[in-house]
Amino acid sequence: METSRRSVITAAAAAGLSAATAGTARATDRRAPVRELFGRLADGTKVHRWSLENGGTRLKVLSYGGIVQSLEIPDRHGRHRNVSLGFATLEEYVAASPYFGALIGRYGNRIGKGRFTLDGKAYQLSVNDGENSLHGGARGFDKRVWDVEGFTAGPDVGLVLHYTAADGEMGYPGTLRMKVTYTLTRRGDWRVDYAATTDRATVVNLTSHVYWNLAGEGSGSVYDHELRIAASRYTPVDAGLIPTGELAAVAGTPFDFRRAKTVGADIREANQQLLYGKGIDHNWALDKGITARPEPVAALRDPSSGRTLRIATTEPGLQFYSGNFLDGTLVGTGGHIYRQGDALCLETQHFPDSPNQPSFPSTVLRPGATYRTTTVHSFGA
Ligand code: BGC
Repeated sequence: METSRRSVITAAAAAGLSAATAGTARATDRRAPVRELFGRLADGTKVHRWSLENGGTRLKVLSYGGIVQSLEIPDRHGRHRNVSLGFATLEEYVAASPYFGALIGRYGNRIGKGRFTLDGKAYQLSVNDGENSLHGGARGFDKRVWDVEGFTAGPDVGLVLHYTAADGEMGYPGTLRMKVTYTLTRRGDWRVDYAATTDRATVVNLTSHVYWNLAGEGSGSVYDHELRIAASRYTPVDAGLIPTGELAAVAGTPFDFRRAKTVGADIREANQQLLYGKGIDHNWALDKGITARPEPVAALRDPSSGRTLRIATTEPGLQFYSGNFLDGTLVGTGGHIYRQGDALCLETQHFPDSPNQPSFPSTVLRPGATYRTTTVHSFGA
């Protein structure tokens, strides 16, 4: 998956230009973050939209939910398209968004029955998905207004997003102070750094819920996208999509993406796990486990446009959700209806329901410690 952007650098290097010179050539498309009013919530609170660009990647982010409203990257002919599902207006995000592009927390994915026990104390969370708690409960971080500031640092541009969740918010213990940094590098990578501290023991699992369609949002199904996931095991679920606690081998199942295959290749197999998810909606236990630095875990490619996405993370898990619940009832940013399979999510995370699964890597954060994870999205064509 050689990228055209990398080829520019390589060609410059071959021509005897220094890396700095090559960087200058590419820096022409760098645009420092600018802010505009996007809308107002019912109570009058202003929501802003930030626009920034670097290395061929153009990003639009809302202060509401830290939502990536649009992410444009070039195809093999240099033609930009928005590859992230979303809406044109704030009202639509507030009314009924299936987490399009949002920052997710305090706990990404499900906690069974919205309950867990920590240090001998039982907690009841906001339940919003049948009997379970999903993505932080009824009003998770995706529905909060974040403080956003733009920055330029060396060759990078980016945004710093702050939000403090109150002790007891959605049932979670501890005041959680968060700083999430979205950086666009000069190579057009979108890097997300999450940091959080707490004043009482709590559980934390932050992620980003971009719905990718590398052919462009609204262009139809992603079943022909080729996907690779560096994981030999995944966490099977029950009918409510709560992990059973088992780490099952992907070998010989539709969940084997160790070699690239199309998203749709096995998605219609009569497999109990696929029935539960109405398609793929599962967590992969990444072979690399937790790492101090982001390591490559997944690669996605759209053969029609040539666009590629590579994901590297410090996290031990990846939720691959094949857009199963998109049902033709939402109209997206570009004016097209979104239907089942029109996008997929690749959410780097700790495993779902970890607070109730002693064998899973811990999601507990204690006072004095800092939660830190990083995920890097690299694009090519
Ligand atoms: C979950 C799905 C859920 C979706 C919300 C995904 O992360 O795994 O089950 O429906 O988010 O749109």
